[in-house]
Amino acid sequence: MSKIYATDRDGTKVELEGRENMSLMEILRLGGLSIEALCGGSCQCATCHVFIDEPWINDLKPQTDFEEAALEEEGSEVASNSRLSCQIKWHEGLDGIVLTVAPEA
Ligand code: FES
Repeated sequence: MSKIYATDRDGTKVELEGRENMSLMEILRLGGLSIEALCGGSCQCATCHVFIDEPWINDLKPQTDFEEAALEEEGSEVASNSRLSCQIKWHEGLDGIVLTVAPEA
């Protein structure tokens, strides 16, 4: 079973199972984490912002211009390991990924 190690906004640590054909945002929401995802995954709201730990951040597909723009507009703390979880499709290669839900904007 592939795993996601996530820390919620309040510091709660949870272990979730990866699910094929779902985005990271969908898996985190299913797991009850505080991901709002107001735009439903269309890269417009940035309320699915997470920080991805090393070395996983380097293994992800690069941000699109749309994702970068959405993060910039979000207004909360954006870091070099910031990503929109709706833009990351789950696959087995992400087994063991570690992430933290970003603070509310
Ligand atoms: S859910 Fe809105 S940008 Fe990810």
